[in-house]
Amino acid sequence: MQFSTFQKNLDEWQGVSLIFGVLEEEIESQLETIKFVVDPKLLLKKITTKKFKGEKGGILNFEFLDQKLENLIIIGLGKTKNLNKGDIKNTLGNLIRKIVDKNEKISILLPWELNSQLEINHLAESMRLSAYKDNRFNKKKDEKRVLREIEFLNSNKFENISFEETEKICEGVELARRLVAAPPNSLTPQAMSIKASQIAKDHDLEIKILDAKECENLGMGAYLAVAKGSDLEPKFIHLTLKSEGPIKEKIALVGKGLTFDSGGYNLKVGASQIEMMKYDMGGSAAVLGAAKALGAIKPKGLEIHFIVAACENMINGSAVHPGDVVKASNGKTIEINNTDAEGRLTLADALTYASNLKPDSIIDLATLTGAIVIALGNDVAGFWSNNNDLANDLKTASAEVGEELWQMPLQKSYKDGLKSHIADMKNTGPRAGGSITAALFLEEFFDENIKWAHIDIAGTCWTDKNNGINPSGATGFGVKTLVQWIKNK
Ligand code: BES
Ligand code: MG
Ligand code: ZN
Repeated sequence: MQFSTFQKNLDEWQGVSLIFGVLEEEIESQLETIKFVVDPKLLLKKITTKKFKGEKGGILNFEFLDQKLENLIIIGLGKTKNLNKGDIKNTLGNLIRKIVDKNEKISILLPWELNSQLEINHLAESMRLSAYKDNRFNKKKDEKRVLREIEFLNSNKFENISFEETEKICEGVELARRLVAAPPNSLTPQAMSIKASQIAKDHDLEIKILDAKECENLGMGAYLAVAKGSDLEPKFIHLTLKSEGPIKEKIALVGKGLTFDSGGYNLKVGASQIEMMKYDMGGSAAVLGAAKALGAIKPKGLEIHFIVAACENMINGSAVHPGDVVKASNGKTIEINNTDAEGRLTLADALTYASNLKPDSIIDLATLTGAIVIALGNDVAGFWSNNNDLANDLKTASAEVGEELWQMPLQKSYKDGLKSHIADMKNTGPRAGGSITAALFLEEFFDENIKWAHIDIAGTCWTDKNNGINPSGATGFGVKTLVQWIKNK
């Protein structure tokens, strides 16, 4: 999708489709702004008969078949006092999806001045992500989306406005969405490793893919315990992005990469949505999406590691038994009292591996617990951190990009829930506070001097219905926050 700005006098504008945003107040004077295309008085009459007041999400569509302007869409943005960045993006996102198949180019005029390049970039990003479609697996595969260009009308002039970085970020988010939405017979651990190699090739990253044997040599007994119930080989993926010149900071991003989670012998039954468990690699999708975006953006002074212990959680004759004791690569033993708490087992070895690289900070993302979905729903991800600076930086970054995070406690007293009679710990605590014990479990697997944050995206990586800038399906949650957090360094 192309973005552009129209920076000349509006009287000179010559498009065919215009979206005009209107606030829920003083409509008459707002309509004066578009006198360059239609007679405001005429329009006011029409609007009044249709009882349109500019209320948030209200849409009026006018077709002018015999005129230069063929299509005018007036969109209500609500009251000024209630305006916020997120709402504006969501309202426009919902509109864009309605017209994506109808117009090749649309222009947008808002009832206020766009004051910065950043503001326009954010709008462009939301528009593109809202219009996203995935027809890889159906017969619309070769259909070209009609909407190709979005133009912003604005009287503020910007010199050399660029949408390049916006495009790189969108490509990262869209990659994550495609990975998450791909079914488990398509996106296998091997397929994921091939995608990672492609990113490495495209953006000049170092790549290491470890097979089961190499993981065994590193003592990754927790990760391999999960993988051994599947006929598919696990693939441990490690990408490295090194800035040119001196390195000021080392970062590791770790993602849960279960290409399918059946639950294992603690099989997912009833309402546990086994058929959706292709999205159990949402954390790794965010990490690989960030790798793609950052590989293209090339931030300075950083060494960034992207790590995924990819595998499936399945059942066969050699699958892990509920009750097995395994040893992770940091030497700690784990009693697997529930095979469905598999993500933390894979992360145990992935975090140990990350920790051994001696980074300044580690962030892991994982569709880790159903409990976080109960606690925070589908719009907010939970996060935990052992470091206040990192927690604050993440909050700032996520707020800047409009991905919502809510900090949860590392409640030490709940650690008792992971006590085992036979091993150093169990992998599963009581149902109550299930997301917290999961985070406490992860904390056992890296050097405590490393700043760490864990983001549980079980609720946010997928949406059943269109939701603001997210079309129904995979959201790509996490990519934007990771990229912004790195950009802020
Ligand atoms: N992948 C699931 C978590 C999940 C649940 C993600 C719902 C998205 C939606 C994870 O592996 C899991 O099964 N967790 C268990 C843990 C329990 C056995 C302690 C859960 O949350 O039920
Ligand atoms: Mg599970
Ligand atoms: Zn899982």
